[in-house]
Amino acid sequence: MAGRVEGKIALVTGGAMGLGKADCLRLAEEGAHVIVTDREIDLAHEVAHEIQGDAFELDVTDPEQWQHVIDAVEERHGGLDILVNNAGNVIFESIEECSLEHFRLHMAIHVEGTFLGCKTALPLMKNRPGAGASIINMASTAALMGYGNIPAYTAAKGAIRAMTRSIAIDCQDKGYGIRCNAIAPGGIETPMVRDVSGRAGEELMDIPDGPLPMDALGAPRDVANAMLYLASDDSRFINGIVLPVDNGLDARPHH
Ligand SMILES: NC(=O)c1ccc[n+]([C@@H]2O[C@H](COP(=O)([O-])OP(=O)(O)OC[C@H]3O[C@@H](n4cnc5c(N)ncnc54)[C@H](O)[C@@H]3O)[C@@H](O)[C@H]2O)c1
Repeated sequence: MAGRVEGKIALVTGGAMGLGKADCLRLAEEGAHVIVTDREIDLAHEVAHEIQGDAFELDVTDPEQWQHVIDAVEERHGGLDILVNNAGNVIFESIEECSLEHFRLHMAIHVEGTFLGCKTALPLMKNRPGAGASIINMASTAALMGYGNIPAYTAAKGAIRAMTRSIAIDCQDKGYGIRCNAIAPGGIETPMVRDVSGRAGEELMDIPDGPLPMDALGAPRDVANAMLYLASDDSRFINGIVLPVDNGLDARPHH
């Protein structure tokens, strides 16, 4: 049986670990050829080896590296069907603690990185076969609600949410056949979450199958499954949305 993204060409940023790695594995399982990119090139190579994809070193804040990677994708594959702008960081600091330097770092990685990804890849994503191309940007529930201890991160994720909608409408109006959506994960068990919870270096927890209680962390595959839907032709009528993948967190009254 054909996979849900059979034959499509996909590029994932921050694909070496966490949610990005889960995205790479899920896309490959469903038949895509995956270009794994990360600034951690050795780990990116390991993921690419596992799924017979390509690996490229890519710091998403660097426009020249972006152009180099996109040129290589054009040369090898002639186009791009799926772009997952996933790379990210988080530093837990309140408005009083956060330096301008740290604020700019969040803006550079999340906002400029997503901007550069969409802008640089766009020419390769126009008029693709099937239901067209799909961009998936990684926002967060931080874009939807106020977390007091991460103002820089919330600002960056809010900007990704807004930019996603702008790009979706522009591409639609110009008839490019490119959809652009975002995902807003709640707490997911990844190296990033281990770092901020003080469990850095420990093994990732196994998130059990089946229904999860309100305060549980999700598994990276929970986000990858939502990404896969937005990447596939099954979601051709879905454009400009921000999809919470948060076990109901955003639906819950906040008082
Ligand atoms: N884990 C969660 O609970 C959660 C919740 C909401 C949103 N997110 C978002 O999902 C995305 C992935 O998060 P994660 O939990 O997997 O994080 P992670 O730290 O486990 O992995 C992030 C990956 O991005 C890479 N990266 C960081 N900066 C980069 C840069 N400048 N250029 C290229 N690669 C870079 C890292 O090397 C790493 O491979 C991020 O955008 C994050 O903000 C995560």
